[in-house]
Amino acid sequence: MKGIILAGGSATRLYPVTLAVSKQMLPVYDKPMIYYPLSTLMMSGIREVLIISTPVHLPAFKNLLGDGSRFGMKLEYKVQEKPVGLADAFILGEDFIGNDNVALILGDNMIYGSRVERVLKAASNLKEGGIIFGYQVADPTSYGVVEIDKTGKALSIEEKPENPKSHFAVPGIYFYDNEVVKIAKSIEPSERGELEITDVNKVYMEKGKLQVIPLGNGYAWFDTGSADRLSDASDYVKAIELRQGTQIACLEEIAYRNEWISKEALMVEAEKYKKTEYGKYLKRIAEQDYKQYKEIFEGDLFNAN
Ligand code: TTP
Repeated sequence: MKGIILAGGSATRLYPVTLAVSKQMLPVYDKPMIYYPLSTLMMSGIREVLIISTPVHLPAFKNLLGDGSRFGMKLEYKVQEKPVGLADAFILGEDFIGNDNVALILGDNMIYGSRVERVLKAASNLKEGGIIFGYQVADPTSYGVVEIDKTGKALSIEEKPENPKSHFAVPGIYFYDNEVVKIAKSIEPSERGELEITDVNKVYMEKGKLQVIPLGNGYAWFDTGSADRLSDASDYVKAIELRQGTQIACLEEIAYRNEWISKEALMVEAEKYKKTEYGKYLKRIAEQDYKQYKEIFEGDLFNAN
């Protein structure tokens, strides 16, 4: 499976901060925002990723992340001339996607939780159709809202409904089979002039091929598109990292644990960041007994909790 990060858009809800700076470059506590969605794709086991952004901002992402080799990945880049909608990602990404399945994540979404890696890996093993998530929120009226049956099949999806049929908001991470390219090309722009991801999901739903994974207690999902939410996400990351002495969205750590980079490569990165907690953490990871870590966190002990 391949991955796409949509990191363009207008970011008008963050003006004036984003008048000259890309939203997805803003810090979420101690890392650029794009680290978080990239880490989500990496935790899904996805190694080839296309980053889409505006003509002005795309070069900065290239500077930040390069060809991806330092994470054992292959990163590609593509300009989106105008923010014509989320489903445009599959049209712009057609050549990149080729015959593969594809995951799309929005550049301002972060998802975190102890079991998130398992859930993502399961989603990335999709054989046919689409998989989206349902995240319970108190007030779903400003989100895409999905209603599901007992087996997790989507029954209805509505964009920002006044009277929501459920409390499940749809986070900005989606897994699809290769049909998605054809579907994206077949939908018409909505009233607001965008190619809507909700319309793509509706096509899958009408075929009975849209599966929803409900994310219950124990998961955090943030869409960091407004000043308050960005600040909430930063506070959350700070609280977890300082309390546990761990790092959220530590790309080199995930690459190492995925066995995409060697211990030596990890040490090189740790040296680069040695003045920061990030660098000290990388050094600790490199020196840790990885086998023991796996046994503790991925073995039966973990399953029992
Ligand atoms: P939104 O948050 O819906 O839009 P935006 O980022 O332009 O912000 P605002 O509402 O403040 O003007 O976009 C969700 C994500 O998708 C965000 O990371 C930007 C990205 N995006 C694109 O890259 N291209 C697009 O055509 C659209 C609509 C969004």
